[in-house]
Amino acid sequence: MGLTMAARAALLARLSRKEAPTANTTAGRDFATLPAAREMALVRAGAETMEIPNPFFRAHEGIAGGHSIIGNRELINFSSYNYLGLNGDVRVAEAAKSAIDRHGISASASRIASGERPVHAALEAALAANYNAEAALCFVSGHATNVTVIGHLLGPRDLIVHDALVHNSGAEGVRLSGAKRIAFAHNDWAAAERELATNRKRHTRALIVIEGHYSMDGDMPDLARFVEMAKKYDAWLMVDEAHSIGVLGATGRGVFEQQGVDPSGVDIWMGTLSKTLSGCGGYIAGSSVLIDVLKHSAPGFVYSVGMAPALAAASLASLQIMRDEPWRVIRLQENARAFRDGARNSGFDVGPSAGLGIVPIILGSSVKAGRVSATLFEAGVNVQPILFPVVPEGSARLRFFMSSEHTAEDIATTLAALSAACG
Ligand SMILES: Cc1ncc(COP(=O)(O)O)c(C=O)c1O
Repeated sequence: MGLTMAARAALLARLSRKEAPTANTTAGRDFATLPAAREMALVRAGAETMEIPNPFFRAHEGIAGGHSIIGNRELINFSSYNYLGLNGDVRVAEAAKSAIDRHGISASASRIASGERPVHAALEAALAANYNAEAALCFVSGHATNVTVIGHLLGPRDLIVHDALVHNSGAEGVRLSGAKRIAFAHNDWAAAERELATNRKRHTRALIVIEGHYSMDGDMPDLARFVEMAKKYDAWLMVDEAHSIGVLGATGRGVFEQQGVDPSGVDIWMGTLSKTLSGCGGYIAGSSVLIDVLKHSAPGFVYSVGMAPALAAASLASLQIMRDEPWRVIRLQENARAFRDGARNSGFDVGPSAGLGIVPIILGSSVKAGRVSATLFEAGVNVQPILFPVVPEGSARLRFFMSSEHTAEDIATTLAALSAACG
């Protein structure tokens, strides 16, 4: 399903024509000369040549849950992180509405400058309790949380050792910090330890960054190994729980619950409110000293507006429902396992997925992934392709985000459509 040589040559010729400088080009002011613009043009032209419709920025007309309405058609949806079906739950919506009635929409300023709302403290107490931590702090974006926290806590004399597959936000935080950065092969704790053994002594502070549940592959780190290593090398351990809270563990508390590890071994618990917790924003949970430092000095908190009260209320209600209704977590995990095992039995490459919430179907070329995604969309299944350069060419995939809302019939229909699309 790759591009033919002729199509590839035509595509490259077209792109190079577009780039050809003219006598009066002022390239320095031309946004189209940016590398990102070139890359976008390449992807668009490729999709056009292969007649693959653009799978990005599709508008969902209602709530994007296990099903979603796109272009007046109801599809089985695997493209949203509504893991426990809480985005759209009436109790969550009611909590948000009553926060609007009480406080309006906006927090209107930074919390340090102009004060906060009671719901901020209530949400932070609930998040801290999830990790048995002393305190927690919420930021207005999950991405910005990683950037500002890593960028603020570490500096040029420090060392950051991180999994090669950490999310872009973690990588941007590392870049901002100016610390020496070493990426270790995905989930290879022994490689991480070798790097610490070699490099730790030359740096003032050290940070290990991993995720609780990796979003590209749906696999997990060996948390106990990293906790041990952090102690041995006098390093902080930071775990990004974006796809872990609500997904891993018998009651959704995250990777520590899944693996039976004492959460106090992790210095910096990070997570996002935009997935299971049906809001928007990020959080850090840890010691009261850490939270105090961030609350008074992290630029992304101090110099940014407080979280909208309605979003904080929605996430707090979601966390409460997650705690009170563990059947949702069990159903999500059953669905993910059924889908992963069904796909594997049909001969698909599901990578190292733990079958708990995220299942990749690795198809190889970006062209094939784009085409299969388009065919599935026509067949009533919405799943995003993950293409080069987000993943290396040759490991392009469809990424299925499962939900507790999916039914056995949804899963059977999707597996059949997948086999038909690849047949
Ligand atoms: C692992 C991880 N960390 C952080 C983020 C950023 O979170 P948000 O989208 O809530 O800003 C994401 C987003 O998908 C993520 O997958």
